[in-house]
Amino acid sequence: MWRRSSVVHVVDELSRAQRRERHRVELEVLLVGLAWAAWSVRLELAFLLALLGLQRLVGGIAGWIVAAVAVGVVFAIPMSRRWLVALLRAMHVRRAWARATIDAGVAAGPFRCPGVWSVSRVPAGDVLDVRVRRGQSVGDLDARREHLAACLRAREVRVLRDRGDAARASVLVIKRDPFEDAAPMSWPAATANALSLWEPIPLGVDERGEQVAVELVERNVLIGGEPGAGKSAALSVVIAAAALDPDTRVWLLDGKLVELAAWAPVAQRVAGPNGEDALALLREVRGVMDDRYRELLANGQRKVRRGDGLPLHLVVCDELAFYLTVPEKAIQKEFAELLRDVVARGRAAGVIVCAATQKPGADVVPSALRDLFGFRLAMRCTTPQASDTILGQGWASAGADASDIPGAQRGVGYLLAEGDRPTRMRGYYLSDDDVVAISERAAAARADKWLAGGVGA
Ligand SMILES: Nc1ncnc2c1ncn2[C@@H]1O[C@H](COP(=O)(O)OP(=O)(O)OP(=O)(O)O)[C@@H](O)[C@H]1O
Ligand SMILES: [Mg+2]
Repeated sequence: MWRRSSVVHVVDELSRAQRRERHRVELEVLLVGLAWAAWSVRLELAFLLALLGLQRLVGGIAGWIVAAVAVGVVFAIPMSRRWLVALLRAMHVRRAWARATIDAGVAAGPFRCPGVWSVSRVPAGDVLDVRVRRGQSVGDLDARREHLAACLRAREVRVLRDRGDAARASVLVIKRDPFEDAAPMSWPAATANALSLWEPIPLGVDERGEQVAVELVERNVLIGGEPGAGKSAALSVVIAAAALDPDTRVWLLDGKLVELAAWAPVAQRVAGPNGEDALALLREVRGVMDDRYRELLANGQRKVRRGDGLPLHLVVCDELAFYLTVPEKAIQKEFAELLRDVVARGRAAGVIVCAATQKPGADVVPSALRDLFGFRLAMRCTTPQASDTILGQGWASAGADASDIPGAQRGVGYLLAEGDRPTRMRGYYLSDDDVVAISERAAAARADKWLAGGVGA
């Protein structure tokens, strides 16, 4: 009897202790929840308290009137209204982000969410400057980007790690496609009288609305994509930049004959859909390159430098696949070998190669040639595999998949250039009239330079 009552007593004590512990945990969760809720609306609370303070300071009905007037003034002045709306919006985005990181399993709970240091609005959605907490990594965020996108009801979330700080990342929350139904964007340098190919060339605009410009010296560019994606239009912009630099020699290989025809007045030499012509052009380019190396050796230089008076050479090849699949096997082989040599050795000699093709697969473009192109532009493709063939293995599954570009979006593509990952961008467009005008202007400038005796080899 004694034993039974003492056992009951111990059991009661235990369940009371468990209940106390449960209540303590529940209270803790409640307090943390309240503190977090108050923290997430701290800005709104601060505004409310400031207004209440103003009302108390003045007192009575007059106090309420002063507070109402203060709110009215802030909203009446466009600058302060925009500032306040942007601030409140940024706080809203921060709250949504914090909830999403908890729900997506990135953060273990409130106050463990990766911090947002700034929020900026861009044409595609929002860019968040994020810093992860101790014990978290930017890789965790990237791995959960699909979950984050679903929680944020966004089209996509892209995470770009800061190069200098492993704890920081730029997170692009894509809410809308900025390239949908957009009118062609004219090239900003279309009216320029002269450009230098040593400077970055504006190619287009990215999803953040920022200009994408690339330095082409010491680079080679491969452009791929389905028919009508905008490859020749992208090549045209590069040729226009080279044409407007009177110190740059332009060499054109045009498998369709008509695509680059308007640039003939500024070209050193043009080859159409004829294998022998193409070989002759490439042999000449290789000769120029070999002469250049001899010249560099004589000058004690290792590579062409800006200001040393040696012109750059831009070799553009549209419809690369055409030349690599001509019926004559000997021409195919020599073409591939010559182009590979020019791409491989041209860098230090100031020779830049830009090539475009519908199918850059290994069955058409030998891997030994394709892999030498440092910059890649993947325009709309039919499959993620085709996109990977252009950009490199694995990018499609990492979110840079040119097969997700809608068919109607001409000129849109993923550019893999200086950055760590491909940038989705829309290229500038030169109308036929623009091309003719630039070509004529550039040809006249070249003629003037030639007459003035300022032409180098
Ligand atoms: N950046 C751009 N902005 C707007 N429209 C564009 C852009 N680029 C191309 N287009 C449109 O798409 C059409 C096809 O472009 P383009 O001839 O460059 O395609 P392509 O990829 O070279 O095709 P193909 O493989 O058949 O040669 C152009 O005539 C133009 O109307
Ligand atoms: Mg084309």
